[in-house]
Amino acid sequence: MSNLGNIDATMLIFGGPYSNFAASAAMKARAGDLGIAAERIICTGDVIAYCGEPVETLDLIRDWGIHVVMGNCEESLANGEDDCGCGFEEGSDCSVLAISWYEFANRRVTTSQRRWMQALPRSIDFVMSANRIRAIHASLTSINEFVFASSDRDSRLTQIREAGIDAVIGGHSGIPFGQRIEEHYWLNAGVIGMPANDGSSHGWYMLLEPRAEGIDVSWHRLDYDHAASRKTTIAAGMSAYGQALADGLWQSIDILPEAEARQTGKPLHLPSLHIDSVSIPDILSQAGRPRRWWDYLQRGKS
Ligand SMILES: [Fe+2]
Repeated sequence: MSNLGNIDATMLIFGGPYSNFAASAAMKARAGDLGIAAERIICTGDVIAYCGEPVETLDLIRDWGIHVVMGNCEESLANGEDDCGCGFEEGSDCSVLAISWYEFANRRVTTSQRRWMQALPRSIDFVMSANRIRAIHASLTSINEFVFASSDRDSRLTQIREAGIDAVIGGHSGIPFGQRIEEHYWLNAGVIGMPANDGSSHGWYMLLEPRAEGIDVSWHRLDYDHAASRKTTIAAGMSAYGQALADGLWQSIDILPEAEARQTGKPLHLPSLHIDSVSIPDILSQAGRPRRWWDYLQRGKS
């Protein structure tokens, strides 16, 4: 685990570069335009995956110097595993498609890149507007659990309460969302290396902006030279993924719950979300939960 302490300036969060060099370069350029320095940027993992430039993409992300959470793809490649560990059902379309990119990338990543992936933290904590926030790859208990907006709320609430935090930022599933669950929040920053299955070639990223009374959370589209990435991805032999980059539709929706599957091809609209500051009255209202008291007292020390 890594801890960034208290953050009082805008944070930029994104996931899934997915070996998409052009998207990663565009994300870096956008961060520069926004004036957000590398120490205030978190990638939620899966730097290497479906597209055609794994080595170049990882070098760009690594040399940029941003914070990166270990994804299942990093875990598998670092350990020389036989597959990506994505959690796809064996024999499913997703599983068959994943074999091609994994073998392509696994043949190319260097020893020093594997060492870098091995050393990545599995979670990154920080505090903003007195909210304790944890960035992870998939869920708080698993590196490859698919969590969507429609996923079971009770189990996620249990995960958040047991972790003693206020908000979670995840990646892995590829579709951005944000929702309040009781007094907590589950956010997904989206990914830049693949479209969100909404019929658009854009990737997505998220901004967290600290305000006097909380945090403003907003999601943004990332436009980039998807034609260039399509070309290199198809040239690398992953034509299905290359096609998805152009038309904005996943080649398989095996992993999607019914609610998200119904959204296939429909433009994604993500309204901004506001997270209130955690205050003394908030803490007092939860006097039956001593762990939260303890967390609150610890915040000033991080
Ligand atoms: Fe993943």
